[in-house]
Amino acid sequence: MSEPLSLVVPEAPKRSLSWRGVLRVVHDNPLLLWTDAAYEQDVETQSFLGKPRFLLNAPEAIQHVLIRNPENYRRTAASIRLLRPFVGRGLLLSEGELWRRERRVITPTLAPRALPPLMAEAARAIGAAAIRLDAAAKAGTPVDLLAVMQGLALDIAGRTMFSVAMEAFGTEMRQMLAEAARNLSRPDFFDLVLPIGMPSPRDFQRWRFQRRWMGLISRIIAARQGADARRGDGADLFDLLRAALAEDGPEGARLLRDEVATMIIAGHETTALTLFWSALLLAAEPDMQARIAAEADGLDLGPDGAAAALERLSYTRAVVSEALRLYPPAAVIARQAVNAARCGDITIPRGALVFIAPWVLHRHRKLWAAPGHFDPSRFLPGAQPVPRFAYLPFGAGPRVCVGAQFALAEATLVLATLVRRFVITRGDDAPVMPVSVVTTQPDRAPPFHLTPRPGAA
Ligand code: HEM
Repeated sequence: MSEPLSLVVPEAPKRSLSWRGVLRVVHDNPLLLWTDAAYEQDVETQSFLGKPRFLLNAPEAIQHVLIRNPENYRRTAASIRLLRPFVGRGLLLSEGELWRRERRVITPTLAPRALPPLMAEAARAIGAAAIRLDAAAKAGTPVDLLAVMQGLALDIAGRTMFSVAMEAFGTEMRQMLAEAARNLSRPDFFDLVLPIGMPSPRDFQRWRFQRRWMGLISRIIAARQGADARRGDGADLFDLLRAALAEDGPEGARLLRDEVATMIIAGHETTALTLFWSALLLAAEPDMQARIAAEADGLDLGPDGAAAALERLSYTRAVVSEALRLYPPAAVIARQAVNAARCGDITIPRGALVFIAPWVLHRHRKLWAAPGHFDPSRFLPGAQPVPRFAYLPFGAGPRVCVGAQFALAEATLVLATLVRRFVITRGDDAPVMPVSVVTTQPDRAPPFHLTPRPGAA
């Protein structure tokens, strides 16, 4: 039986790539970096220009890197080069005492007990988006759900964390992200081989890009500060970060800007992709859509009821979890060993690259039954527990995603609201290929049709 079109993925190479092959796929689509055999092995060892690189699938090895010895495994020079233009020294890239301070401020604001008011705000944005989509649904015009999800997730990130309406900034932000995805976010030879202290030729372009990007973030901050006088409610993440960094003087202002940049980019791009892939998967599954609609039927998904409703949306949440398995937005977690280490049977030399790839783990043939099938029941309450460290869409250990619970709640609420209201179908039948350009993106934005769901209020 052939896979549904939404599940077509690039075919892994049969053998390890030559160094030229590595350069090509790292630039074009790093999902093709690992061989087909890696999807059933504990460890795949490759070498690049004589240096070993390890892909770790075994639970003990993953635990060793992410949880037991995280201080020995730093971000790689290539990841810093790709992320720095967008996040500066914000939480994603900061280290040591600065990282601890930033993490202490941010973690509680996104923890499960902080979610109810954030989900009320998210529900307002989702309701407004659903009303905008009504017109397309009634007219039967095709909808670009990738753009819809990107706009919605950005709006939610801006409103919940920074109390800022993002409409005025969305288009420019998308244009800049698209510009980077064509070029600066795709590493070349020098990006891979030069240490971070030595600029690669394209780092100069990246610095220019970073100046423009941070200019945009500064305008968002100015809009937020201008709105201060009108805000009567409690502190948001912006207030807390500003207070925590106030003692750092001018340096604090730069750190605040980097932190806002980090939380906006990390807080919307990945969730938007989760929603896009969920919609693509569901478009081939009318029965699953009907089940989501039935689960959401009668629940108050508006600002007053959203937080309570989330507890009743276990099937919808299982769909989100399964979409994150098949299309993890962070396809790979890359680290470089600071010192040599022993990890089970493997000796990891100093400086070696170590990869933990949710993309591979989530499709591993020894860890999952029918790994290529879209089957949300794997994540329903009462299902067999997922093997340890086989499912890592948010990473693990001290650098685990700080927004994981927020993202899951947001994505569940968006899907429940939209699927209850509309039947989602594809507008064409050509495959949509996942491509990893920092995040796991579709190779094109396919059209969808939304039809008012019969019986929906
Ligand atoms: C489905 C959505 C999301 C996915 C799949 C995702 C995935 C991840 C992963 C895998 C990491 C760990 C990276 C590593 O160890 O190298 C991470 C870190 C991070 N995420 Fe997320 N994320 C999501 C949503 C969010 C949201 C909503 C926010 C903010 C509101 C956020 C903010 C961050 C930050 C700041 C870090 C860095 C944490 C640190 O280094 O201490 N993420 N994310």
